[in-house]
Amino acid sequence: MYDFAPDSDLPKPERYRQLGEAADALIAGESDSVANMANIAALMWEFIPDLNWAGFYRVVEGELVLGPFVGRPACIRIPIGQGVCGTAASTGETQLVEDVHAFPGHIACDANSRSELVVPVKRGGKVIAVLDLDSPNPARFDAEDAGGMELLADRLSASV
Ligand code: SME
Repeated sequence: MYDFAPDSDLPKPERYRQLGEAADALIAGESDSVANMANIAALMWEFIPDLNWAGFYRVVEGELVLGPFVGRPACIRIPIGQGVCGTAASTGETQLVEDVHAFPGHIACDANSRSELVVPVKRGGKVIAVLDLDSPNPARFDAEDAGGMELLADRLSASV
């Protein structure tokens, strides 16, 4: 049994450090990308408070396709360049969106979402997937969340 215990009193960088260590422990020696993404989605859900969706979209034949996640059923395919996820995939840059209603082309998968953080996962300089976090709280994510998720994305590069 895996029993990771996120401590909600810790400062954000420390929580992301613990999340990263838990991720390393789960993916070490495992080559199955679906299993790894599923476990990482579960870890993000456990370690990051105030989410209503946490998961992956993968780049498959030139578009984003839904991967393992925790949350409500979501849009399956997103064109590269569209929405928050497609923008992260096309630019290779983290997208920190304080108010999803103000983001041109935001794709609403869950009407409760108010803010969103999408971080590209790259391998060999190419975007292979994105990590997507949604929150029902406006402006839920800040630069510390973005930095923590970028470190997580780096760790996952060879495992998803
Ligand atoms: N809101 C995203 C779509 C994915 S869902 O949030 C799970 C977007 O605009 O790309």
